[in-house]
Amino acid sequence: MEILGIDIGGSGMKGALVNIETGELTTERYRIPTPASRKPEDMAKVFKDLVNHFNYEGSIGCGFPTIIKHGVCKSVSNLNKGWLNLDTQKLFSNACGQPVTVINDADAAGYAVMNYGIGKDENGFVIMITIGTGIGSGAFYNGKLIPNFELGQIPYKKFKKIEHWTADSIRQKEHLSFKRWGKRLNTFLELVDTIVCPDLIILGGGVSKHYKKYEKQIKIETPVKPANLGNHAGIIGAAAAVLKEK
Ligand code: BGC
Repeated sequence: MEILGIDIGGSGMKGALVNIETGELTTERYRIPTPASRKPEDMAKVFKDLVNHFNYEGSIGCGFPTIIKHGVCKSVSNLNKGWLNLDTQKLFSNACGQPVTVINDADAAGYAVMNYGIGKDENGFVIMITIGTGIGSGAFYNGKLIPNFELGQIPYKKFKKIEHWTADSIRQKEHLSFKRWGKRLNTFLELVDTIVCPDLIILGGGVSKHYKKYEKQIKIETPVKPANLGNHAGIIGAAAAVLKEK
């Protein structure tokens, strides 16, 4: 069975068809830059364009970069304030004329690694951390999602949220070496370890493929592994959410 998965981020909106039995992409990934306004109406138009690109009819799964409670956006995060309390499922379903299941993007990426990737046989408490424009986290206990863990929101020193100091967007903006940025990531992971004490931490997002370049800076006792689904975890997990969230 093939399902269209759409991964919405602060800089790009991406989609592909996913074979839900194997977790493999059955089409090329298609990406449209997130509109600079990051407003609901502009992003809904891009959502529709993504669906049209695949000429797809059927249920769609979507990962969205804010807290999502039963389809409703409960934080603005790195988007426009017009999103707050908006029913994202209704908005996207109306835009494309198909049923859409929306969950938090890090929860979606977590579904992918826990079902098809490196977390597949992992029991206990696993935290998936996605590092991109912001920092997301998906929490799984014995393979079951506990939605909307927001570990990137931990305040740190003068920063309202630690993601404003540790996200990959900050590494790029401040032109930090992997070594310097890796130390920041380690500080964040130390806090995660102290607060929620997981059995395993999986790192996702584009920067996870460079893990070797900052592995030495990661000094926490809890095992840390980079995700192994490349750039596609968000899309794969979004598609999986259609069945998981039923
Ligand atoms: C948001 C999270 C999201 C993460 C990654 C954070 O700013 O609060 O909900 O998962 O960014 O996109």
